[in-house]
Amino acid sequence: MDAKDRTEIEQWLRETDEQRLSQLWTAADAVRREHVGDAVHLRGLLEISNWCVRRCAYCGLSADNRQMQRYRMSADEILQCVHEAQAYGYGTVVMQAGEDYGITTEWLAQIVRRIKAETPLAVTLSMGERPHEDLQTWRHAGADRYLLRFETSDRKLYETIHPSRPGQEYDRFDMLRQLKQIGYEVGSGVMVGIPGQTYGTLARDIELFRELDLDMIGVGPYIENPLTPLGKGEIDLGGPELIPKQDASATLKSHTVPNTELMTYKVVALSRIMCPEANIPSTTALATVNRANGRELGLMRGANVVMPNVTPMEYRTKYEIYPGKACLNETANQCQGCLKGRIAAIGRELGTGCGGRRKKSIDAI
Ligand code: 5AD
Ligand code: FES
Repeated sequence: MDAKDRTEIEQWLRETDEQRLSQLWTAADAVRREHVGDAVHLRGLLEISNWCVRRCAYCGLSADNRQMQRYRMSADEILQCVHEAQAYGYGTVVMQAGEDYGITTEWLAQIVRRIKAETPLAVTLSMGERPHEDLQTWRHAGADRYLLRFETSDRKLYETIHPSRPGQEYDRFDMLRQLKQIGYEVGSGVMVGIPGQTYGTLARDIELFRELDLDMIGVGPYIENPLTPLGKGEIDLGGPELIPKQDASATLKSHTVPNTELMTYKVVALSRIMCPEANIPSTTALATVNRANGRELGLMRGANVVMPNVTPMEYRTKYEIYPGKACLNETANQCQGCLKGRIAAIGRELGTGCGGRRKKSIDAI
């Protein structure tokens, strides 16, 4: 099993032969076992605010979505959920929000300090593109990790679906480097099958996971949200010069990546092979496209992390990035029982401790 460069990765992404694919799953699972072991780490996911100033064309939290009722949890509510996550035995709490400047630098720093003082949990933040000084302040307050998906390495596609705010240009790759330099463990990733994504770009994305030396890699299928411009088909993705008129559907079919469950497993498996030590979650989006056993198959094809939701019910139903999200109507307690059962059923262990990246020295490889 080889997947050393972009061409090989692209071949694997296009692979349809079941036997070859089963070799890919086996190889990814072996690399996972050898480098990060059988433990599945549980991260409690807390969606602390659904306010967002951005207008991403794919995302339900977009500021343009006026149908969404907005919320921001209070500090005490957050702390209560964090203690609940600790009681369930989770080693990490992941606080996620839209890009919400109502979450002020100092307010969140204070919350991070309280969590670090009151619990042994690792703290992961996923707050979008924030200024350098915010990232630094939160790191000094004790935050351990930061998640920021780059979504796609195709700059033109990125700018089309992810408009920057006037006068506020951020480069996510630059931010990922800053985060690492500030001392965070850094996570990134992409959506699989976002309209306009080609096999070549997706192969490049996976190659970049390694070049960026990511500590965490999150990938999930793109799920169409009818409340967004992409879901409504309002976005022009390419222009006629890219698609010969006589054969538009055939050309699109051969070049763009489908947002399927199978394609997502391929990306999970290839990410594991390219980045053996990374922490890779089997994501909620994957569970959404296959409720029966999407999470398990992710874990059996390279992933070693799951993120049970600990957001209180009244808020969780309002954090609707895409429709039909798994666990929307389950309580934190139900999710922990569900996931622990699923992990046991596939013969894996529950992780203990914070489950940070285990870096092997070059000599040890
Ligand atoms: N389908 C799947 N994933 C999505 N995300 C945002 N919108 C969608 C969607 N429609 C993902 C993005 C973001 C993460 C928090 O959720 O990759 O980084
Ligand atoms: Fe939430 Fe299964 S993880 S119900």
